[in-house]
Amino acid sequence: MERDWKAELDDLLKDAGSRPRDTIPVLHQIQEHFDHIPPAALPFIARRLRVSESELFGVLSFYRAFTLKPKGKHTITVCLGTACHVRGSERIAEELETVLGVSAGDTTADGLFTLETVNCLGCCAIGPVMVVDGVTHARTSPQTARDLVENIRTGEKKS
Ligand code: FES
Repeated sequence: MERDWKAELDDLLKDAGSRPRDTIPVLHQIQEHFDHIPPAALPFIARRLRVSESELFGVLSFYRAFTLKPKGKHTITVCLGTACHVRGSERIAEELETVLGVSAGDTTADGLFTLETVNCLGCCAIGPVMVVDGVTHARTSPQTARDLVENIRTGEKKS
């Protein structure tokens, strides 16, 4: 049976605004609820906000905070900003791509990990920086990255 996006969104957004200027907060609310913006729900979201689907897609494409792809259970973010880059963050990202078998921006086939990169996390002095499930890890290395992934995989096997 097809999902009833209209009913689901009406319920989720019952207290939210419904004008074009409410687009960003509404998208944040939807992403927080679904962990991504479900592509199938875009027509309903656009209608509710009184914007065209192409306008909505433009907003979604512009802001990296929004994603149309479901995220994995664990999100790993590697900073590739200048301060982290000069301390080797590119090698960390490459190590993670190898260990996880995905490119940055993708989710592993088992749905366990999403690998992301950003251009600065605002804590350049402690780079290279990685954020794993919201926890910041300072002065990381390819080995740190590999160990963090292994720890999560081990924990998942036990649970
Ligand atoms: S460049 Fe990595 S935290 Fe700023």
